Amino acid sequence: MPPATLPRPAPISADEYRARRHTLMAQLPAGSAVLLPGAALVTRSRDSEFAFRQDSDFHYLTGFPEPEALLVLLPGRQAGESVLFCQDRDPALETWTGRRLGAEGAVRDHGLDQAFENAERDERLALLLEGREVLYLPLDDADALALAEALRGELSAHARRGAPVPTGFADISGLIHEQRLIKSAAELSLMRHAGEVSARAHARAMRACRPGLVESQLQAELEHEFRWQGGSGPAYASIVGGGPNACVLHYLENAAPLRDGELVLIDAGVEFDLYAGDITRTFPVNGRFTAAQRALYEVVLAAQERAIAAVRPGVTLASIHAGVVHDLTAGLVELGLLAGDVQARVDDGSYQRFYLHSTSHWLGLDVHDVGAYRRAGEPRPLCPGMVLTVEPGLYVPDADDLPEAFRGMGIRIEDDVAVTAEGGEVLTASVPKRVADIEALMVTE
Ligand code: GLY
Ligand code: MN
Ligand code: MN
Repeated sequence: MPPATLPRPAPISADEYRARRHTLMAQLPAGSAVLLPGAALVTRSRDSEFAFRQDSDFHYLTGFPEPEALLVLLPGRQAGESVLFCQDRDPALETWTGRRLGAEGAVRDHGLDQAFENAERDERLALLLEGREVLYLPLDDADALALAEALRGELSAHARRGAPVPTGFADISGLIHEQRLIKSAAELSLMRHAGEVSARAHARAMRACRPGLVESQLQAELEHEFRWQGGSGPAYASIVGGGPNACVLHYLENAAPLRDGELVLIDAGVEFDLYAGDITRTFPVNGRFTAAQRALYEVVLAAQERAIAAVRPGVTLASIHAGVVHDLTAGLVELGLLAGDVQARVDDGSYQRFYLHSTSHWLGLDVHDVGAYRRAGEPRPLCPGMVLTVEPGLYVPDADDLPEAFRGMGIRIEDDVAVTAEGGEVLTASVPKRVADIEALMVTE
């Protein structure tokens, strides 16, 4: 029987995209304009391209799904503040490469004030920018910078007497990223859905797992669920690492056999309406933890549960990470993987032999989402609407000086948490992580 299809949340409305643009423009000084290009198609091999993925900042402000588009924001312009340039309609070409919205569709469906096809860009763009003194653009985008330089040259050459020309460029990305960091109710609905779909995919992989399968076959289970539930696919390259492959943090081969008696680590999440889920689970290939696997697993799980319980407005990711480091180090000492005093092993950094990444990152349109982690040099306090991951792990090197039972074992447990007024809402709670729950799910099949 095919899996049940989950009800899908509403997409972001044209009104919300419009409100986002207004919020951004309200922060800009008088006489400024914004140039924000969307993403381009990227060749994969000769005539084939990678599946198109819109630039996240561009998507956040427009929801416009096509390549080769440019958003121009002109605060205070009577004839319309939000102007889009997009691909030309071309019925003959569209038969080959797919339908295009065109300028009319962009205004109709995306709440833009005006839109023009790219064929008109050269004649219109400089005119639109006349009188604007500061151009905001993503300064790390070489193409955007080249475009802004060319426009400045054009405007200077044709400046009417006394009319200001752009004297400066400023970065727009930081402002957009701060906006993106705090998710709206509609974004949280999409992220709840991305969390639930990702959770179902992990549960499905757990149920399917058995010795003798290849890692890629669990990947196929996950990704089938992603697409089945309307996702565009994985939000990042799915990691399925059996045995010691779990210790390779960005393991991508997913081609080894899954062996009886070993653990498998899966780090995978769906992309739904461009929002990412990001879950890691680690479980026994044969459905039963050995004593050593369970001992190490319980250390990671306890640290993760305590970290999730600590999420609330006002705390920082740095303090959550410090708590995790302490809990993991205490577990390592208890299991004989580190010796001596727990605080001393935290202070001298020897825990880093087993735990080398941080505990959390922001999550949203990008899996490692945008938004500053620090303010004025200090870790920033969490606020409602932020979404983060909580993902402690322990990775035991295959080294002679370590207890044999743990060598080569890699365990990570990762959930996605939205900060609420009172605490945290776990978006990925429906996939088991307690030992008894994992074992129960795996033996019922
Ligand atoms: N899947 C990427 C990460 O967990 O950060
Ligand atoms: Mn993550
Ligand atoms: Mn992950």
